[in-house]
Amino acid sequence: MNDALSGQHELSMTVLMTPDMANFSGKVHGGAILKKLDEVAYACASRYSGSYVVTLSVDQVLFKQPIHVGELVTFLASINHVGSSSMEVGIKVIAESIQEKVIRHTNSCYLTMVAVDKEGRPARVPPLSLETSLQQLRSDKAALRKKLRKEAEEEARQTHENHYSVQSR
Ligand SMILES: CC(C)(COP(=O)(O)OP(=O)(O)OC[C@H]1O[C@@H](n2cnc3c(N)ncnc32)[C@H](O)[C@@H]1OP(=O)(O)O)[C@@H](O)C(=O)NCCC(=O)NCCS
Repeated sequence: MNDALSGQHELSMTVLMTPDMANFSGKVHGGAILKKLDEVAYACASRYSGSYVVTLSVDQVLFKQPIHVGELVTFLASINHVGSSSMEVGIKVIAESIQEKVIRHTNSCYLTMVAVDKEGRPARVPPLSLETSLQQLRSDKAALRKKLRKEAEEEARQTHENHYSVQSR
């Protein structure tokens, strides 16, 4: 194994938007971008942890600007926070129109990836060393998002239980 690559917490991937990624109006399909986000998060988290990883959650993804066929799209991924087995990956998406030389930040999102062993059970991941104030800030914000995600999941579970206990009366 090349030690220079394991434990790296950042990854970037640039993809040319080809016609097969277009929707009916000729812009890039939202699903094509979601697939790339998942692949980039997988690669970033798997390389960082040295484990196979699965996607636990994808936070709200907003497409505020369309991406066009022919543009170069760069996904800048970073491990923001590490728990025992989970990692939050933040991804910034930049679109570049090649001939016009215009660069746009189209969106950002967060995915939670979990390292798993051969039986699919959560596996431990190495701690993230926070060397800069930006890394510390990203980690603090990610820890808060993790807490909020868990609270939202618990709230949804209780609402679901209350709904079915009322229906079964
Ligand atoms: C991911 C998976 C292995 C987790 O299993 P689990 O039994 O829930 O395991 P745990 O309860 O130990 O949680 C694992 C990690 O996820 C975190 N987690 C669980 N629920 C969470 C939530 N709602 N928000 C944020 N983090 C959460 C836990 O805190 C833990 O992280 P930590 O060890 O760093 O603290 C399991 O849910 C799974 O296999 N999911 C399917 C994954 C998949 O197929 N994805 C593709 C979908 S098509």
